Amino acid sequence: MIHSKTKTKPQTYHVKSFGCQMNVYDGERMAEMLDAQGLTPAADGVDADMVVLNTCHIREKAAEKVYSDIGRLRRDDGSRPMIAVAGCVAQAEGAEIKRRTKMVDIVVGPQAYHRLPDLIDRAARGEEALDTDMPAASKFGVLPGRPKQPRPTAFLTVQEGCDKFCTYCVVPYTRGAEISRPWDAIIDEAKALVDGGAREITLLGQNVNAWEDDGKGLHDLIRALDRMERLERIRYTTSHPNDMSDGLIAAHGDVEKLMPYLHLPVQSGSDPILKAMNRSHTRDSYLRLLERVRAARPDIALSGDFIVGFPSESDTDFEQTLSLVREVGYAYAFSFKYSPRPGTPAADMKNQIAPEVMDERLQRLQAQIVADQLAFNQATVGKRCKVLIEKPGRKPGQLVGKSPWLQSVHVYADGAKIGDMIEVDIVSAGPNSLAGELTGKKEAA
Ligand code: SAH
Ligand code: SF4
Ligand code: F3S
Repeated sequence: MIHSKTKTKPQTYHVKSFGCQMNVYDGERMAEMLDAQGLTPAADGVDADMVVLNTCHIREKAAEKVYSDIGRLRRDDGSRPMIAVAGCVAQAEGAEIKRRTKMVDIVVGPQAYHRLPDLIDRAARGEEALDTDMPAASKFGVLPGRPKQPRPTAFLTVQEGCDKFCTYCVVPYTRGAEISRPWDAIIDEAKALVDGGAREITLLGQNVNAWEDDGKGLHDLIRALDRMERLERIRYTTSHPNDMSDGLIAAHGDVEKLMPYLHLPVQSGSDPILKAMNRSHTRDSYLRLLERVRAARPDIALSGDFIVGFPSESDTDFEQTLSLVREVGYAYAFSFKYSPRPGTPAADMKNQIAPEVMDERLQRLQAQIVADQLAFNQATVGKRCKVLIEKPGRKPGQLVGKSPWLQSVHVYADGAKIGDMIEVDIVSAGPNSLAGELTGKKEAA
């Protein structure tokens, strides 16, 4: 039963984002656009007049998860908010979802969400509201400017989409072809973020290091941001090994604000598997690339993504992945069981791996990763570094911030507040965080 409220224009909204940092960024841009339309944010989905579920399609049961999230928005009296499904599930399966449930009013893809206000009007009039276009003119030209934001760290999408077509991955289908935002638009947005209080900017892209504009590459952009007063830290993610240019590697050596952290997924340590994945790099070319990065910035923290149980992965292939992980010594790594995605070439490959084999491999890989993370964190004990305070800790008086190497650092720092850059001595370490002590120096925000 649909409450009449869903057929009037909503006054309040709630955006819930899943998946990668780009979805977090898109969720923020949608919220800002709804703010600009005069809607006000609601703390909770059920209480809001409208809810945007900003979804992720990367691994299994993505659509099922959307159905159960939608179900949870039904209120005790049988009414519900207006519901928009956005993000990558919307792009891949939105039309199907809209056919299957009456509870979805709007479907909007990742390249069309600037049209959300119009879609809301249409839904309020009871008209069809589905938009999964990938328009040639980018949404970024239409979205409102960035408002003042209270947080010291900000995301900034500079590149979107992917042309790599790894055989397991949905992103090229859900996000479309690689596009780079223009230089000026990025610089303007960065200025607005810094004026609004951001001290750290993370440049985002599905292949962020493929960003280019008129012969300029990501390292040129990073060097321009480095000259921006009041901006203190620059990060970027996610990179592809094949787009790691000499200029970008060099920037890690001499751009002071560029933090010593690189997320460079490799997925597998076995060449036959890398080939079947269409990764277009080898184990050896990846390892040699990391050598060059470490030569430029010896203390760099490396992180990666791994898939276990890709079709035809043998014990020997998996051992190669374990040995690569040991060889690199990651500061951080994400590992996933292979999930067959509809429409991708790998889903139709022979020799799919049994779930229990995947479970066992994942456990072994994660044990290795946790041990390496702990070792990396322990090696920072005794170091003095700057920490950008991001939020209060769980205990009274405690604050949590990030080290240059992206580790969470817990610290008691009387008088310090969110957004301050403080100097700490690292005194202890666990696999997921560090404890620091204030050295007495503090730069106020
Ligand atoms: N563009 C980035 C990340 C894309 S998705 C890159 O290429 O590195 C983030 C991670 O999800 C991938 O790096 C991969 O490890 C994982 N992933 C993607 N598709 C997957 C699938 N079908 N099954 C399991 N993990 C997957
Ligand atoms: Fe997916 Fe591969 Fe593109 Fe990354 S590079 S988004 S894993 S297709
Ligand atoms: Fe997920 Fe789409 Fe990001 S599938 S990981 S939300 S690009």
